[in-house]
This record gives sequence, structure tokens and C-alpha cells, in this order.
Amino acid sequence: MKKIMTIFGTRPEAIKMAPLVLQLKKDPLLQPVVVVTAQHREMLDAVLDTFGIEPDYDLNVMTPGQSLSQITSRVLVGLERVIQDESPDMILVHGDTTTTFAGSLAAFYNEVSIGHVEAGLRTYNKYAPFPEEINRQMTSNMADLHFAPTVQARQNLLNERKSEHAVVVTGNTAIDAMRTTIHEQYESDILRRHQDKRIILLTAHRRENIGEPMTHIFKAARRIVDTFDDVVLVYPMHKNPKVREIAHQYLDNHARIELIEPLDVVDFHNFAHHAYFIMTDSGGVQEEAPSLGKPVLVLRDTTERPEGVEAGTLRLVGTNEADVYQHLLQLLTDVTQYKAMESADNPYGDGYASERICEHIKYYFGLISDKPSPFKVEK
Ligand code: UD1
Ligand code: UDP
Repeated sequence: MKKIMTIFGTRPEAIKMAPLVLQLKKDPLLQPVVVVTAQHREMLDAVLDTFGIEPDYDLNVMTPGQSLSQITSRVLVGLERVIQDESPDMILVHGDTTTTFAGSLAAFYNEVSIGHVEAGLRTYNKYAPFPEEINRQMTSNMADLHFAPTVQARQNLLNERKSEHAVVVTGNTAIDAMRTTIHEQYESDILRRHQDKRIILLTAHRRENIGEPMTHIFKAARRIVDTFDDVVLVYPMHKNPKVREIAHQYLDNHARIELIEPLDVVDFHNFAHHAYFIMTDSGGVQEEAPSLGKPVLVLRDTTERPEGVEAGTLRLVGTNEADVYQHLLQLLTDVTQYKAMESADNPYGDGYASERICEHIKYYFGLISDKPSPFKVEK
């Protein structure tokens, strides 16, 4: 039996680590210890509730308007005691947040093996996304096992001279989560109210977009709603007060703009399922939308998720107001283009990434002798 400590703290990490925690719990050879940093408080708790996960440790680090240094130092110091008390055999971190980086650093300082879930995503642009690109590169340098979601992510790690044996392709656990969240009979007041309309689902929160880029995005979105009577914009706002201030300034007081609280993940996935298309600067949403066959306009200049662009579901549109408006206009008027983007092929996973990760951990520790097979995209 090996003790596996999972460390996560933000909404996307929680959504993508939840299926893995549940899988670890089912495995008789692995003993999970769940540590949350609560870098996000309300948005994390909502996910824990949905998946019925009770953390063993909660560092409760979030403070309003927290700086990156504050999160890093609070997580690092908070984890020291927990790691020393529990002596885990391996620590699992996810993705590229400050919790990820500080969690890996704490594991490294305590000489505990590190497994990095969603490893190998890259833009190779230090400031886009900021600070996530460097968080994930530094985490890769500390990790012992790299769970790459795609072949491309694995190749990035091999190019960086990571050992071939340490990098495995598993698919993304986001798709595991979607096996339980989408309900064909799903209903909501907002969807019912706008059932004869085309819904554009918007999410925006990236640090590098706060300020002028976000202003451009929101102005373009409002203009497009004014252009088409049959279009409704639904924006579940991130909890970040800096994001909310801009959203209220440009999107308030419109009968066909729903400026709402963050949706529970079950609601969000079902809203995405019912949307006409999605506009977003989120990372996770770029992975989820292809499995729903929803076109996505990516509100960024670069993406670490090129597979979705190659598959034709994602389109990089940047943050310039005229460009965003033009892409929105095209997708609403050009049915051929819309249909071409509406492919349901998903390069990001088949819903069994968590199982593969558990098998690889057992193989790493010599608890099983057969090497698990990697995830392959069905063509
Ligand atoms: C973080 C991650 C980012 C991820 C995003 C997901 C880093 C550096 N960035 O960015 O990669 O895409 O989460 O959403 O780790 N807040 C609340 N309640 C909450 C959550 C946030 O009030 O439940 C507010 C707080 O005032 C906080 C602010 O939002 O200061 C920003 O949160 P923070 O975690 O610092 O950065 P994010 O931009 O959310
Ligand atoms: N999400 C959610 N409710 C919302 C908006 C998004 O549950 O109102 C989910 C979404 O399905 C995805 C994740 O949150 O799984 C993405 O998180 P976010 O965009 O905050 O972070 P990122 O993926 O960019 O790091």
C-alpha cells in the first residue's frame, strides 16, 4: 500500500483532480490523503460539494486580492507540517497554478516523489499565460512522473530531455469529470427563459486579460448582442473582484445579457451543452468544449492546447475588439463555418485518464508488473 497525497486549491484543479481522488479511493493498493490549499475558497468548496470530497487538510490560504507571493509563501509554509506528519510516498499536483508550483516545491524540499497531472502543456511564452507558463515549466523540472494529457504534451517534455520512461500519455481528467456531469434531461430557469434564442456562453478571468483586453472583449460581446435579436450572452463571472468590476461596467443592464454568479460545474457543463457556442480565455473550457461538439472562440493570442485548434473546434481570436466582433459575427452568420467547427472529436481524453494515472503510479512503485497502455485518440 502506498500513500498518495493530492494537493489542489483552485476551481479547475479541483474539477480535474476530483475524478482522480475518487479513483485513488477505490484502489486497494493506494491510500489517498487529500490536501486543499483553498487558493480559491467558494469556487473550490462548490466543486468539493459536487463530487462529495472531504479534504483531510485545508490550509485555507485565500485572502481577498491576494498576491502571487502571498499565495506561494502561505502554501509552502502550510504544507511543511502536513507533509512531515503524513510522510506520503508520492505527492500529486495538477496543472499550472500557484498551488501547483508551491505544492511541488514543498514536496521537493521534503524529498517526496512528485507526480504531475496535466503535464507538458506549453506556449514557451513566459508571460502568456502569466504566471502559469513558468509555474508548469518549474513543476516539470521537479516532477518524477509526468502525466501528459496528449501526445503533443509528451513530446514537449521529451524535447526538454525528460526521461522517456517518466512521461506517460493519459488523456485529460477533465473528460473523466464530464462522464458524470452531463444530463440529457437537464433544466434551468435561465435556459428555459431563453429557449428560443442562441446562447453564447462567455468565461473570462486570465490575469493578462484584466484591464484593456477584457474591456475590448466585453464591448465586442455587448455589440454582438445588440446586432442580433435572437442572441443571448450568458456570463458566469469569476469571483475575482477585478474581473467583476469590468464586467459590470460593460455588461450590466441588458435584457439579453445574463451576468450571473459562477455556475456549479454540473450547471456549467450543461449550459455549455445547450450553448450555441462558447467564447473563453479559460484553459479547461478549451478541453471540455470539443467533447460537446461546441465551437470555441479563444480570447487569447496563444494557446497551449493546439490539438483543439488542429481539430477545428477552437479558433484563436485574440482580444482586439474589432477582431472579436468579426469572429462572433462570422460564427453567427456563416452556417458552413459553424458546422465545420461543430465536430465532436475529442483530442483530450476518453474519460479514463484517472484510471491510467493510478495504474502508472502502481507500476512506478512496483505494485503491478505490467506496464499500463497509454491513451490513444480514436480516429
Ligand atoms: C487562478 C490560477 C489560474 C486559473 C484560475 C482559475 C494562479 C496564478 N492562477 O487564477 O491559473 O486559471 O485560478 O479560476 O494560480 N476569489 C474569491 N473567491 C474564490 C476564488 C477567487 O474571492 O472562490 C477572488 C480572490 O479575491 C482572489 C482573486 O479572486 O484574490 C483571484 O484569485 P487567484 O487564485 O489569485 O487568481 P486567479 O486569477 O483566480
Ligand atoms: N467552470 C465552472 N463554472 C463556471 C465556469 C467554469 O464550473 O461558472 C468550470 C469549467 O467547466 C472548467 C473549469 O471551471 O472545468 C475552468 O476553470 P477556469 O476557467 O476558472 O480556469 P482555467 O481552466 O482557465 O485554469
